[in-house]
Amino acid sequence: MDHELLRAEFPVFQETAYLNAGTCGPLPRAAGAAAVGLLHGAEHQGRAMPHFETMLAAQEERRARYAEVLHARTEDVALTTATTDGIVHVLQGLSWRAGDEILIAEQEHPGLLGPLGVLVRQHGVVVRSAPLEDIVEAVDANTKLVACSHVRWTDGALAPAGLAEVGRQIPVLLDGAQGLGAVPVDVEALGCAFYAAPGQKWLCGPIGTGTLWIHPEWQSRVEPRAVGYLNLDTPSAGLQSRPWPDGRGHDAIATSAEVTVAAVRAMDVLADVGWDAVLERAATLAGTLADRLAESGRTVAPRGRTTLVSWSEADPKAAVARLNEAGVVVRDLPGTDLLRASVGAWNDEGDLDRLLGALG
Ligand SMILES: Cc1ncc(COP(=O)(O)O)c(C=O)c1O
Repeated sequence: MDHELLRAEFPVFQETAYLNAGTCGPLPRAAGAAAVGLLHGAEHQGRAMPHFETMLAAQEERRARYAEVLHARTEDVALTTATTDGIVHVLQGLSWRAGDEILIAEQEHPGLLGPLGVLVRQHGVVVRSAPLEDIVEAVDANTKLVACSHVRWTDGALAPAGLAEVGRQIPVLLDGAQGLGAVPVDVEALGCAFYAAPGQKWLCGPIGTGTLWIHPEWQSRVEPRAVGYLNLDTPSAGLQSRPWPDGRGHDAIATSAEVTVAAVRAMDVLADVGWDAVLERAATLAGTLADRLAESGRTVAPRGRTTLVSWSEADPKAAVARLNEAGVVVRDLPGTDLLRASVGAWNDEGDLDRLLGALG
């Protein structure tokens, strides 16, 4: 893989050692150009049928790109607006009774906890948590759903492989916010019923994009709660019209053409290099950063072979500001003493040198 060619696709690296894809990936030039081109067209030609035809065609391209990286069938993939959107579709679409137990891992993101809180208030479900490392052993006879991160956002730990076996007995909802485009994802092999992921992080698309995969066996048990006209099987059937019976029934009610084409072009940039190469380089470089931080005397949080590296700093907010001044973009994790760097295939050793140099 020619990583210099890949890196050159992202203008942000002209100035910055950008290590923040766990928040939002770097945006490739081709994505911005596609969006701007479409907007200019809309300014001059208006937004009539051809604009919508472009949008609809791009939506199907977008679905196909997500399916490729998920290793899934396209029709099982919904086009959402964010990881959290997919999580909401699953949690609101399943049926619940008071006392049903949902098992989660500790340190889950608010994007999962917020929608779970709604279920607690709406239906009286019970949410129990266990360390991600022990989540398989924590499943018991009352557990109706396991909902946890594929990759933990605080430190890059991976969900245990044994979760695939759990998935044969009860449904597993994986929060793939730090998974898709960062680590290998094969939804069938993961054994999950649902995989929710963002478009704006490791797939380098615009904010407002994401995807949800629903296992074919679970599609009839997740009621689409946000049915509009773009996710209908036969939109002309009036009151008889029904949402698609598969993943497509959970498509977001509206997405703009410019956001969609930008998401497709961003994934093209990565797919052209090859997903395997992208994942391999990112994980290797992240491992190098973890080793170098440890060698410099820092305490690196235990992690898996992922793209997130977190370490302790005495004053994390001040460290983020200092790094920013030096053109290095990382983030702190509120409520902890951790700083988190997100390392992608687009980064290079020079970015790591700048980070370590600025840390002092
Ligand atoms: C583990 C995890 N889950 C959920 C989210 C929320 O993602 P989104 O903005 O795509 O809903 C994030 C974002 O940082 C995350 O790291």
